[in-house]
Amino acid sequence: MTGRLNGRRIAVTGAAQGIGRAIALDFAGEGADLLLIDIDPAALEATVQALREAWPARRIDAAVCDIADPAAVAQTFETAGGRFDGLVNNAGVNVFHDPLATSQEEWRRAFAINLEGAWACARAVLPAMIEQRHGVILNIASTHAFTIIPGTFPYPVVKHALLGLTRSLGLEYADRGIRVNAIAPGYVATQKVLDWWATAPDPEAARAATLELHPQGRIATPEEIARAAVFMISDECPFMTATCLTIDGGLSVQQHA
Ligand SMILES: NC(=O)c1ccc[n+]([C@@H]2O[C@H](COP(=O)([O-])OP(=O)(O)OC[C@H]3O[C@@H](n4cnc5c(N)ncnc54)[C@H](O)[C@@H]3O)[C@@H](O)[C@H]2O)c1
Repeated sequence: MTGRLNGRRIAVTGAAQGIGRAIALDFAGEGADLLLIDIDPAALEATVQALREAWPARRIDAAVCDIADPAAVAQTFETAGGRFDGLVNNAGVNVFHDPLATSQEEWRRAFAINLEGAWACARAVLPAMIEQRHGVILNIASTHAFTIIPGTFPYPVVKHALLGLTRSLGLEYADRGIRVNAIAPGYVATQKVLDWWATAPDPEAARAATLELHPQGRIATPEEIARAAVFMISDECPFMTATCLTIDGGLSVQQHA
């Protein structure tokens, strides 16, 4: 590790497992102090312990919070002290249905966590970022932000909107020292994907079919997404804002003959 985030204070949502956990570990390794936010207290505690053991010199704060609750988000950031150099809006849930079979409750849940949660966190950190004329917000979107897999409604609708939020905030604050970007991962080997394969009638065949789709014959690791997140949250790409980095091993540009 090379200290690329030395002295930075960064909040990461959905940090207890999966991509968020990998991002937290990589950021701490690069020198950042962290606020880890998650709804799952036990998993969050385990991740905090792992981080403190791996990087005892870092300040690792943690908050159990449902990002779908705007008042709880505001309270969490107020308690933590609202001043951050970076925010990673990573927490998200798969809500996959046939459009007409989607209940109002499921539609609301998809938007409340995957979009409104990100906006609530951004609202909480932006005032201090504007004051200090420095800050980076990174939204973990998905290739669902610009492509559609039938039967996954309304997840792609929400991820398209998260890309819209990224572009909109990126432009609104471009002249105030703030950058807002997104990463669009394709398939990443996390619990979410394992659970999704497990729902198939033949999970092993489902897994093989997913790998087969990929030009490299594999899917991403959470650590590969984290490496890109270090670059995007750092000062190494100062002219990069209101944009999205796709990390999908070439899947979304592949055209079938
Ligand atoms: N895994 C993939 O293949 C993949 C691909 C593209 C995009 N993504 C996106 O990456 C992000 C992380 O995905 P993952 O696969 O690591 O997921 P995951 O389910 O492994 O982890 C998500 C974390 O978010 C937390 N969380 C869920 N709802 C929350 C809430 N309301 N408030 C606070 N925390 C909450 C969970 O407790 C969990 O720790 C998501 O936004 C997801 O949409 C994942």
